[in-house]
Amino acid sequence: MTPPPRRERVTVVANEQIGPYTLLRTTRGEVDPGVPGQFFMLEAPGRILPRPMSLCLVPTGELAFLIDPIGPGTQAICALQPGESLQVLGPLGNGFRLDVEQPLLVGGGIGIAPLPFTSQALARRNGGTPPPAVLGFRSAHHAEAAALVPNAEVCIEPTYVTALIPAGLDVLACGPEPMLEAVRAQCPGSQLAWEAPMACGYGACYGCAVEIDGELKRLCIEGPVLAA
Ligand SMILES: Cc1cc2nc3c(=O)[nH]c(=O)nc-3n(C[C@H](O)[C@H](O)[C@H](O)COP(=O)(O)OP(=O)(O)OC[C@H]3O[C@@H](n4cnc5c(N)ncnc54)[C@H](O)[C@@H]3O)c2cc1C
Ligand code: FES
Repeated sequence: MTPPPRRERVTVVANEQIGPYTLLRTTRGEVDPGVPGQFFMLEAPGRILPRPMSLCLVPTGELAFLIDPIGPGTQAICALQPGESLQVLGPLGNGFRLDVEQPLLVGGGIGIAPLPFTSQALARRNGGTPPPAVLGFRSAHHAEAAALVPNAEVCIEPTYVTALIPAGLDVLACGPEPMLEAVRAQCPGSQLAWEAPMACGYGACYGCAVEIDGELKRLCIEGPVLAA
């Protein structure tokens, strides 16, 4: 049972640079962090549309998001400084199933964003031991973010993360579409967190419609985490 989403104005507590990414920590208010792999819609002041973001970490009383500033929406969020506020709505969508026997976290680039929270949640179920993780990045600068994921093996292109996945583990993966397609081919039982452009986050706009099993489905409702 996942908690109902809540819309709340939260305040930026810290804005930290990790490689090319921004770790934005905010107050939590009454917002429930939900299940790892669920997402939140973040709206910077003055922006018309919010942007979907995974929850990266849940410091006590805070929410933390790891953000790649690739366009105007993410850049406006990354520019927010301590004391400034933004609106969050969530948790939304379906997160990872954590009732797996031998988890392996697989992340690529900014796709590692939900994995620190996922690792913490899995460690809690396993007497405090974090699961193994394999992470792939396009450069050493991007790979600085791997420090957020405990027990991780890291590779940098031209080595792809799929080269580090041993057989027989329960894969929970998030990353760019080509990486997820390769993981799906290699690990048919995996759980994959997909992305699509999202305008509302709760099923109203159909902006996130993708073809699943030959039918158009809204990724914000059916996903973002889907069984391979
Ligand atoms: C469920 C979910 C969770 C996400 N979590 C994170 C996260 O934790 N950290 C993070 O940095 N980003 C995350 N993203 C991606 C992030 O939402 C987009 O990068 C952001 O919306 C881009 O907005 P923009 O205004 O900065 O750039 P835009 O100008 O909107 O886009 C820049 C470029 O990226 C493309 N693009 C935009 N959004 C997406 C998308 N969702 N999928 C594929 N291509 C896209 C556009 O076509 C364009 O080419 C997540 C997306 C989803 C759906
Ligand atoms: S984002 Fe609006 S329907 Fe999915």
